[in-house]
Amino acid sequence: MAFLIVAPDMKTASWVKHLSALDSAIDIRVWPQVGNADDIEFALCWNHPPGEFKKYKNLKCIASLGAGVDHIVRDPDLPAAVPVTRVVEPSMAQSMSEYAVLGVLNYCRQFDLYRSDQSQKKWQPRIPLLAADMRIGIMGLGQLGKDTAKKLSNLDFPVTGWSQTPKDIDGVKCFAGEDALDVFLSRSRILICMLPLTPKTRGILNHETFHKLPAGAYVINVARGQHLVEKDLLAAVDSGQLDGACLDVFEVEPLPENHPFWSNPKIIVTPHISSLTYPKAVAPQIIDNYHRMKSGKALLHRVDIKRGY
Ligand code: GLV
Repeated sequence: MAFLIVAPDMKTASWVKHLSALDSAIDIRVWPQVGNADDIEFALCWNHPPGEFKKYKNLKCIASLGAGVDHIVRDPDLPAAVPVTRVVEPSMAQSMSEYAVLGVLNYCRQFDLYRSDQSQKKWQPRIPLLAADMRIGIMGLGQLGKDTAKKLSNLDFPVTGWSQTPKDIDGVKCFAGEDALDVFLSRSRILICMLPLTPKTRGILNHETFHKLPAGAYVINVARGQHLVEKDLLAAVDSGQLDGACLDVFEVEPLPENHPFWSNPKIIVTPHISSLTYPKAVAPQIIDNYHRMKSGKALLHRVDIKRGY
């Protein structure tokens, strides 16, 4: 029986190294060198070719290589009976929170402007935007959103959160459900999107949403490119409704060379690095789930496929 890694656009050597270091007896195969398809019991994947998993009739677990599982659940041929798991790892929350805090501080302390001044040898002090005036609105209060909310709140930013189901986080005003969305948006001077991508959240960062934020708001998207209607963001930045944005994820990745985001001085672009999966840190929970699968125990970090996260 075997363990398959299916991640066509990723380097997998480090995964093989860290997984085998924990259990050298596991027969680890890397797609497309699958061998006999009937051997495959466990698949670790990122952006697999749709329809791939229905080839493995002995498959007992599909494990996402990251925190998100949208790349799995969008497969129309996903075998319904096979459980899906995701990564839940403190180092990922830490890395995501660092990015969000950096995005917020970079904006409030106007570092982009100072970098541009520096390139022109210009000495130009500016009054920083005060934390107390910068109410942060975090959409999505799962492991990542909660950690970010706590860290920003510790820096004395007023923090508000919004999620599908009610959450309770010390020092954070939490709103839940569609009915509370408008009031949440009206308070969010800096909006951070950390939502899972589901049919409900696709396109949630759109013209209407931007116009419900206070004028001159700032948007940070670290979730998925498909949450954002890119042309609506450009229009909102052009009109001044948004003061700018910091974006780590895009509709098409890598971001095409001729995309207007690249050259917009109000938009920061980073290449989907806000929270990377570290094979060394994550391999133990994958191997743990492999052993659980083998011994028929409940899997950790199982995803509700219907809900999409
Ligand atoms: C990254 O985007 C992840 O889902 O882990």
